[in-house]
Amino acid sequence: MMPTHIIPILAAAAIMVVAAKGVQITRLSMPRWVQNGTEDSVVLDCEYNYSEDDKRLVVKWFLNDDPEPIYQWIPELNQRYASERVKSKLNMDYTVSPSSQHTRYRALNLMKPTTELSGRYSCHVVSMASQDAEDQVMVVYAPPRSFDFNYTKMSSEAVNFTCEADGVFPMPKITLLQVDVPEREPNLVSGVKTVTTSQRGAYYVQVSREIREWELSEQPTVFECVLSIPGTDYENQRKILYWPGSISGTWRAREGSWLPVLEIVLLLIVNLLLS
Ligand SMILES: *[C@@H]1O[C@H](CO)[C@@H](O)[C@H](O)[C@H]1NC(C)=O
Ligand SMILES: *[C@@H]1O[C@H](CO)[C@@H](O)[C@H](O)[C@H]1NC(C)=O
Ligand SMILES: *[C@@H]1O[C@H](CO)[C@@H](O)[C@H](O)[C@H]1NC(C)=O
Ligand SMILES: *[C@@H]1O[C@H](CO)[C@@H](O)[C@H](O)[C@H]1NC(C)=O
Repeated sequence: MMPTHIIPILAAAAIMVVAAKGVQITRLSMPRWVQNGTEDSVVLDCEYNYSEDDKRLVVKWFLNDDPEPIYQWIPELNQRYASERVKSKLNMDYTVSPSSQHTRYRALNLMKPTTELSGRYSCHVVSMASQDAEDQVMVVYAPPRSFDFNYTKMSSEAVNFTCEADGVFPMPKITLLQVDVPEREPNLVSGVKTVTTSQRGAYYVQVSREIREWELSEQPTVFECVLSIPGTDYENQRKILYWPGSISGTWRAREGSWLPVLEIVLLLIVNLLLS
C-alpha cells in the first residue's frame, strides 16, 4: 500500500502535468518603472507556448481593476482591439520577433508612456482547452516638480521644519531625519505632521515637525528630508544645517549647492571670532 503522505504530492504533480499540456505563459517582460514622458516607447511582452489542443487562442491585456481589456488579439480571426484608454498610446504596427502566426501581435508597445498608464498589467492567454495569466506592476512616475526643505522660527524656543514636494506621482514617501552625531546613522524624526493633496493626477505632500530648542544639542544639527517614490529607485534629498539659537527666518539648502558648505565655514569662523 502507498504511504498516505505521498498521495497529495502525486495529486499536485498530476495537476501540473495536465496544466503544462495547455497554453502556458513562460515569461512576462516589462520595465518595472519608467519616468513619465521620457521613453519613446516601452514593450510589454507576454511570451507563451501552446499545444495542438489550443484552438481559438485569445490574447488579452488588462490594466489594474478595469474589467475591460485594454488590448485583445484573436490570431485565427486576425482580429485586434484596443480600448479608448490606450488607443492613442498603442503602436498597433509593433510585432514581436521572432514571431509566428500565433505570437505576432501578443505584445503591447506603448508610446511615450505617461502616469495614467501606471499600474498592474496582466496578460491572459485563453484557448478552448486551457488558459493562463500573469501580472506585473509598471510604475510610470513623475519626479517632484518642486522639492523644498525650510525651517521657520516660531518663537525663541520653537522651530518648524517643513519639507514639501509638489507634482509627484505616485504618492511619494517623505521622511525627516536628524543627524545628531556626524558619521552615525541619522535618526528618524518622529511625530511629524503630514498634509497631502492631489491635483491633476499628481500629489502635493508636506511633512513638518515643530522642534523645541531644548531637544537639540548645542552643536549645529543637520536635518535631512528624504523623498522616495515607491516601486522605483527614485530618491532625492534636501539638507539643512540648523544652528541652535539662530535668528528667525527661513533658510534653505539645495542639494549639490555650495551654499551649505560656505555657510558652515562662515559660521565656524564667526564662532571662532566670538569665543
Ligand atoms: C513551454 O515551454 C517550456 C520551456 O521551453 C517547456 O518546458 C514546456 O514543455 C512548453 N510547454 C508546451 C505546452 O509546449
Ligand atoms: C507627464 O508627462 C506629460 C507629457 O510629457 C505631462 O503633460 C504631464 O504633466 C506629466 N505628469 C506629471 C505628473 O508630471
Ligand atoms: C522655502 O523657501 C522657498 C524660497 O525661499 C520658498 O519658495 C518655499 O515656498 C519655501 N517653502 C516652505 C515650506 O516654506
Ligand atoms: C509648519 O509650518 C507650515 C508652513 O507654514 C505649516 O503648514 C505646518 O502646519 C507647520 N507644522 C507644524 C508641525 O506646526
